[in-house]
Amino acid sequence: MDTCQKGPSCKIGPSILNADLSNLHDACTKLLDDGADYLHLDVMDGHFVPNLTFGHPLVKCLRSKVPEAFFDMHMMVADPEKWVEPMNDAGADQYTFHIEATKDAAALSRKIKEVGMKVGIALKPGTAVDVVVPYAELVDMILVMTVEPGFGGQKFMADMMPKVKYLREKFPDLDIEVDGGVGPNTIDACAQAGANMIVSGSAVVKAEDPKAVMSLLRKSVVKALQE
Ligand code: DX5
Ligand code: ZN
Repeated sequence: MDTCQKGPSCKIGPSILNADLSNLHDACTKLLDDGADYLHLDVMDGHFVPNLTFGHPLVKCLRSKVPEAFFDMHMMVADPEKWVEPMNDAGADQYTFHIEATKDAAALSRKIKEVGMKVGIALKPGTAVDVVVPYAELVDMILVMTVEPGFGGQKFMADMMPKVKYLREKFPDLDIEVDGGVGPNTIDACAQAGANMIVSGSAVVKAEDPKAVMSLLRKSVVKALQE
């Protein structure tokens, strides 16, 4: 993994949402062999977002087949408090909940840490960046959504970049993740704004050469981090 000299390092985390879910173990192993630093796993409950994916039983099975990978759980669910323990038991490493889905982000962050996972806090495109600032000291990562959560393959929202820039200036050492429509054509905007954790779904899994795409994404971010 490439690292920069100070501050956060570049990490590339493909989203498996649009991968061949009938063959998830192979898809994940290949992504890791091709240079993924972590796996971004999208959990959707049909309430918080109008789509349904998978829950902790699948994560547990995947963990048994992929023992080493870092699992970043993107919890697009209406009741994020409910799945902290099941996801921890299933082998999740980081639990990223949506600020819009909880009444008490501080208590939820503490609960996630107590069970032993890292904490991420996500905000939808319509949510002002100020809303997450009070929790920055409590979390390991802030996820700035660059599409409306719910589906892969949507168009990148460049107008989310000021949120990333604002957070990076305020919190130079925090992990800042972008998710949605990120690929070779949009990575430079993310990198310049200061994102260091890069989720990319269809641009990676649908590419002829996923390894080359992940390497390109990494180069852009590493370059920006060194500037
Ligand atoms: C969307 C998900 C994303 C999605 C990204 O709600 O959170 O992780 O899978 O896929 P792409 O990169 O295709 O937008
Ligand atoms: Zn996601």
